[in-house]
Amino acid sequence: MTIYELLKKDHREVEKLFKQIEECMDEEEFDQAESLFDTLRTELTAHSKAEAEVFYQPLKMVAKNDEGEDLAWEGEQEHHVVALMLNELSRLRAEADEEEYKSKIKVLCELVDHHVEEEEGEIFPEAKKVFSNKEAEEIGRNFQELKERYKGMVDAALAEDIAILMNPIAKKGRVQNIQRSL
Ligand SMILES: [Fe+2]
Ligand SMILES: [Fe+2]
Repeated sequence: MTIYELLKKDHREVEKLFKQIEECMDEEEFDQAESLFDTLRTELTAHSKAEAEVFYQPLKMVAKNDEGEDLAWEGEQEHHVVALMLNELSRLRAEADEEEYKSKIKVLCELVDHHVEEEEGEIFPEAKKVFSNKEAEEIGRNFQELKERYKGMVDAALAEDIAILMNPIAKKGRVQNIQRSL
């Protein structure tokens, strides 16, 4: 499967999870909402981390015009805001903080919707200009492998997502390391 197919599959899964959480909150099934949120937090964090490393980073380097690179930078900033909100939500209790929980889920859902729309509508077309089908399949394999690894270390991955964009030196070092390994 290509990276585009795999990312789209995840995007649909995440949309489903948001819908289920919102339904549970409406039905006052708070324990169920929290357990679905845990799944969402794992899925979204592992997805974003792996996506940024195996898809955004190479796209930044090979994009033939500024547009592809700018979109990847923008996408990363959105990942950062998503990580901040996931972190805040994991500190709330659905029942005790009902209104805050509901509104935060709603805003996070809108943010993710917007992000997914830009990825599928703008980033994918830019990436398709520079990655061959074979490369898109290889990126897909790397994505699956890395995503599984991140699923086993969600807390650390989330903490890194929150911290890394606040620390430009760490970020710069990371990009250079990736460039060296290409
Ligand atoms: Fe995505
Ligand atoms: Fe993303």
